Amino acid sequence: MNKILAKEQKALSKLCAVRRKHIEYSRKGKCMIYLDYNATTLIDKEVAYTMIPYLYGDFGNPSSSHVLGVTAKNAIEHARNQVAQLLNCESKGIVFTSGGSESNNTVLKGVAHTYKTKGSHIITSEIEHLAILNIYKYLESLGCKISYVPIDQYVSVNPFDIERLITDKTILVPIMDSNNETGTIQPIRKFPKYAKIIVFYFIPMHLS
Ligand SMILES: Cc1ncc(COP(=O)(O)O)c(C=O)c1O
Repeated sequence: MNKILAKEQKALSKLCAVRRKHIEYSRKGKCMIYLDYNATTLIDKEVAYTMIPYLYGDFGNPSSSHVLGVTAKNAIEHARNQVAQLLNCESKGIVFTSGGSESNNTVLKGVAHTYKTKGSHIITSEIEHLAILNIYKYLESLGCKISYVPIDQYVSVNPFDIERLITDKTILVPIMDSNNETGTIQPIRKFPKYAKIIVFYFIPMHLS
């Protein structure tokens, strides 16, 4: 099976214009170094191999009741269980979306709607993605208040700045975990203060 996949991958790489240029440069002793993995990156080989059967063969709509649909549905449920196991949570809490903008819209609009009786205050950072900033514009038109915390020289957000802005009307703290332009990763896992925001103040965080 892997031999077939390797052959397919070789065939695909022939189709890729940049990859061809890269090989051409390498032959001349030059090489292109791609340093923009935070903007986008190659799909991990293991992921690509796992997906190939569903891209080329078992491509059914998981909502269909025929054999192709059921096969796709089973594969999705298997993946959902795997992700839940990794995150140590229930699989019904894992929702797959088509990408970043859809996830952001689902969470921000969903939380704003669900918590509207509690409040409409959101605390965020100054360096959010345009996909998030556009949702803020929409939420502001509905009466939500958005507070922006500054970033330091390392493009990091200080959790104490977030805590200072918390009020009893705060319903969500969306922070861009990995910045697609600067490559900065927020030190969220290192700060118990972030956990305090969720556990002590009972305010959900959204990491994008
Ligand atoms: C934080 C964040 N949100 C949203 C997006 C947009 O994602 P998509 O193109 O999948 O909608 C990106 C893309 O880089 C992103 O980094």
